[in-house]
Amino acid sequence: MEYFKLNNGEKMPALSFGVFDIKPKDTKEAVLKALDTGYRSIDTAQIYYNEKEVGDAINESDFSRDDVFLISKNWVSNAGYDKTMKGFNKTLENMQTDYLDLFLIHQPFGDYYGSYRALQDLQKEGKILSIGLSNFYPDRLIDLVMNNDIVPQVNQVETTPYFQQLESHEIMEKYGVRHQAWGPFSEGMDNLFENPILKEIADKNSKSTAQVILRWLHDRGIASACKSTREDRMKENIDIFDFKLTSEDIEKIKELDTGKSPFLDHTAPETVEEFNEEIL
Ligand SMILES: NC(=O)c1ccc[n+]([C@@H]2O[C@H](COP(=O)([O-])OP(=O)(O)OC[C@H]3O[C@@H](n4cnc5c(N)ncnc54)[C@H](OP(=O)(O)O)[C@@H]3O)[C@@H](O)[C@H]2O)c1
Repeated sequence: MEYFKLNNGEKMPALSFGVFDIKPKDTKEAVLKALDTGYRSIDTAQIYYNEKEVGDAINESDFSRDDVFLISKNWVSNAGYDKTMKGFNKTLENMQTDYLDLFLIHQPFGDYYGSYRALQDLQKEGKILSIGLSNFYPDRLIDLVMNNDIVPQVNQVETTPYFQQLESHEIMEKYGVRHQAWGPFSEGMDNLFENPILKEIADKNSKSTAQVILRWLHDRGIASACKSTREDRMKENIDIFDFKLTSEDIEKIKELDTGKSPFLDHTAPETVEEFNEEIL
């Protein structure tokens, strides 16, 4: 596994194993397989309802807590200082640990300034080694950075060949925030795995399209959280450190960018309303 350095001197694994949409009853087994395969970072969230099973897997594995980089995220219903503190303590209890490597504000809605003050205090107490955000686009990211003492270490945003986040990435680089990609395969939507440009680059390197996507992110300095419940694909997705893309490959992949998410637009009025309804 390779690592990326964060702006506070900590380092995070280049690839995390994501457990979104893995049922609690299947999570322990999936995480144990992922650890066996070589993943050293697990990405969960309060809203995935499987934090406890991730903790169970770490306890049952041959790895000690310190060998694994644990990420969770504060859900919007816990926005605000006090609720974030309470929610974070529940996360620690679920995950059966006394610290997290990275804790993110999951969505930029509600009183996330209060949440971010809580994260900064928890970091000062040593309960969170690195703090960060998720789904913060440039406007909200810049405003948060300019109104707080601590620059977040990470911002996890949807990033795929179809939605490359070129402007967001530049802004994160400018402020020293590590970009982490979620859903790098767009869950296979729009035939991503069969895309002819990606397939051509994959064939040339004797790799799969999934490996080309993860390598392309890695070469941009972007950490990724990806998921497969299949052991062969877990292995495939982690086997990306023995090849490199050329500048021509990168130019070709740039042509695939649509500039928008196939899932949801975080800036659309209905999205803002929908997330805020979860707080009420
Ligand atoms: N911060 C956020 O708001 C947010 C939002 C969404 C996701 N995330 C994080 O990002 C992680 C990844 O996102 P995701 O789970 O939505 O989707 P993803 O990793 O983009 O795609 C997962 C899908 O791709 C398939 N797949 C994986 N590897 C493959 C391969 N090598 N070849 C062919 N198919 C492959 C999987 O099927 P099989 O399981 O059958 O292999 C699954 O259907 C999540 O688990 C979560 O940790 C964060």
